[in-house]
Amino acid sequence: MSKLMIVGCGGVASVAIQKCCQNSEVFDEIMIASRTLSKCEALKEKLQPTTKTRISTGAVDANDMRDVSSWIKTWHPDAVLNVALPYQDLTIMDACLDAGVHYIDTANYEAEDTEDPRWRAIYEERCKRLGFTAYFDYSWQWAYQDKFKEAGLTALLGSGFDPGVTSVFAAYAQKHYFDEIHTIDILDCNGGDHGYPFATNFNSELNLREVSAPGSYWEDGKWIEIPAMSIKREYDFPQVGKKDMYLLHHEEIESLAKNIPGVKRIRFFMTFGQSYLTHMKCLENVGMLRTDPVNFRGQKIVPIQFLKELLPDPASLGPRTVGKTNIGCIFTGVKDGKEKSIYIYNVCDHQECYKELGSQAVSYTTGVPAMIGSMLVVNGQWQKPGVYNVEEFDPDPFMEALNRWGLPWVVCENPKLVD
Ligand SMILES: NC(=O)c1ccc[n+]([C@@H]2O[C@H](COP(=O)([O-])OP(=O)(O)OC[C@H]3O[C@@H](n4cnc5c(N)ncnc54)[C@H](OP(=O)(O)O)[C@@H]3O)[C@@H](O)[C@H]2O)c1
Repeated sequence: MSKLMIVGCGGVASVAIQKCCQNSEVFDEIMIASRTLSKCEALKEKLQPTTKTRISTGAVDANDMRDVSSWIKTWHPDAVLNVALPYQDLTIMDACLDAGVHYIDTANYEAEDTEDPRWRAIYEERCKRLGFTAYFDYSWQWAYQDKFKEAGLTALLGSGFDPGVTSVFAAYAQKHYFDEIHTIDILDCNGGDHGYPFATNFNSELNLREVSAPGSYWEDGKWIEIPAMSIKREYDFPQVGKKDMYLLHHEEIESLAKNIPGVKRIRFFMTFGQSYLTHMKCLENVGMLRTDPVNFRGQKIVPIQFLKELLPDPASLGPRTVGKTNIGCIFTGVKDGKEKSIYIYNVCDHQECYKELGSQAVSYTTGVPAMIGSMLVVNGQWQKPGVYNVEEFDPDPFMEALNRWGLPWVVCENPKLVD
């Protein structure tokens, strides 16, 4: 029996919260703690009559370490699940250390204000040293390793789908299928259609920052960066069909390069339709993806934040999205001296997710593993003092839980490889 404080009440949080409520044997109490109290209360009102899990709510400013910490000290959860925004990762980690509880998240730290000179100096040094220019990387959170170790607390990083499930697939392939993994291709296909000319299926500010950035991949011990969307492949996805996919930088490449011994190349591909790419290029060309403040009639406005207000709320896409996602990894390597390849993937149907929880599949595929990671931390199966990515734990209980909680997976031998 345990208590979980969940920070955030958006698309991903609402799935994680509902899955905790389905799992009352583990989570007998949860607290929904987010910026807009009315959203937390509305969700509580909807769910409380349907679950044995006791639900509390609170208005929390996750940018304020003291506010988060004082809620933790008042409410005494066993762990905090951060499904707010990556901008808040460090304040929430600090609050967990201050109040003495475990920490779980789904996305690595990213600076909200990329013009902040203190952040910028560290960022520019890292770009030169490591060779990739994404605004997010693990160094900020890995730097908390000793603090969490000394406090005897676990910080579990990246327990969503990608990163998260894809990283656990890598640990599972390593444990059960290979003596050495040589290449990993992570393929993220969303074959869903929401009917809007342009919308993003998770927080649009984060999504557009991610996909408009230069792509990069890991090969022979170093990063190779390429212009955004300049490597394109077609792949025939089981249950979805043929889609164009583009090489992107993605955060799990960084942790898998560190945690999968002997890996020679890791790439990440995501599918995009032509209409999405044309809209994004146009928005970028006119300056709407800028992350720095501009003066507008005496007010400071960050264009990408303003754009987020204009676009459909990803949490509202559920009823109108049809089709399936297929996300997984193709591994090549050797076992018992022989070369082999496998593809592990999950297929998730947008409308099935909507029927079950009122969400589309992108929130669903992230919220379910967020609940599973939290469960494994609070029940002790994945507790180890320090800061760890999901692939550093035994993958078996996580893989079993995926089947039980709505994300069944398939292992396919000798798949078609990506060239
Ligand atoms: N690993 C993966 O596979 C994966 C995939 C998709 C998303 N993600 C991550 O999941 C997280 C949530 O994404 P989402 O699509 O659910 O985003 P979202 O719908 O925008 O929800 C974010 C929530 O955080 C709350 N929030 C924002 N700033 C806050 C603050 N200062 N204090 C307290 N609460 C605050 C928001 O409050 P309001 O309701 O007041 O706006 C909102 O409820 C993000 O970190 C995203 O990167 C991971």
